[in-house]
Amino acid sequence: MVVDYPQVPVEVRAPVVRPRRLRSTPALRSMVAETGLEARRLVLPLFVREGLSEPVEIASMPGVVQHSRASLLAAAAEAAELGLGGVMLFGVPEHKDAAGSGALDPDGVLNLAITDVVGEVGDALTVMSDLCLDEFTDHGHCGLLTADGRVDNDRTLAAYGEMARAHAAAGVDMVGPSGMMDGQVAVVREALDTAEFTDVSILAYSAKYASAFFGPFREAVASSLEGDRRTYQQDPANAVEGVREALLDVEQGADLVMVKPAMGYLDVVRRVRDAVSVPVAAYNVSGEYAMVEAAARQGWIEREPAILETLLSIRRAGADVVLTYWAAEAARLLQRG
Ligand code: PBG
Repeated sequence: MVVDYPQVPVEVRAPVVRPRRLRSTPALRSMVAETGLEARRLVLPLFVREGLSEPVEIASMPGVVQHSRASLLAAAAEAAELGLGGVMLFGVPEHKDAAGSGALDPDGVLNLAITDVVGEVGDALTVMSDLCLDEFTDHGHCGLLTADGRVDNDRTLAAYGEMARAHAAAGVDMVGPSGMMDGQVAVVREALDTAEFTDVSILAYSAKYASAFFGPFREAVASSLEGDRRTYQQDPANAVEGVREALLDVEQGADLVMVKPAMGYLDVVRRVRDAVSVPVAAYNVSGEYAMVEAAARQGWIEREPAILETLLSIRRAGADVVLTYWAAEAARLLQRG
């Protein structure tokens, strides 16, 4: 089709202000970039499964595995070599029960993994642990259940306190209470302090939403959860409540607060960043990972730029620290420039 330009020519007055000038060369773009992405700000979540002799790939998270005890150490060593900020450890026990007792067992999969990883890379990066019962319970909930099947907040708090001590005794640097029980940060802080683990810090999963984007994680930790977590995780409709949760956790002694998921909740990341004076983390969760990987496999999205753009966007929204399954890969991409 031939475009018909208007008969009367448009008179263009050359713009005086030209934002494009600052975009004209890579050096200039780099000089004025407002946000940076650095390996030291990235935390790699790692899964270790009891009884494995070889790592097993998680089908819904291509490229992510459940580690054996040995392969976990290799992954942690690589994370340290790449200059990552830390690793977040998740344990998958062979046997689960209603009380999640594997979580408290000093010889349980997560407690052993903490000691292993701290021994391997403890000087080079921060070793963190997910402090929650859902990986250990046969019903898949983050706490102990009442007779009528609800999650019992205060009994669960006692279990979290003991679990925190078990992780600290195993050598962890930072625990991440992620069960969304009311008062969990205060109880964990108290349990640690009264056992003389005053130097173990707390990354509170403060604004954690009842999200469909945790889907692939259920496979990663072999969770049998039926139903949902809406009586304890937050309603995706609420942002002000996310700020409230973060402020409560800071008051209770959280050293860092976290928003989770990240991509759909960048407004919450920003609001929390503006409201607290501790570092803010954001968790780029399993479903966010799976979406990009699936689209890339179809050839519908360019994988590496999409990964870097995702992580940069989370940083730009205000996250000081980003937990992401792409942490090691992103660090390699950043090294290549
Ligand atoms: C709870 C926990 C979950 C995730 C991290 N810690 C699951 C949940 O709360 O439902 C999800 C992480 C992800 O989806 O990548 N132990």
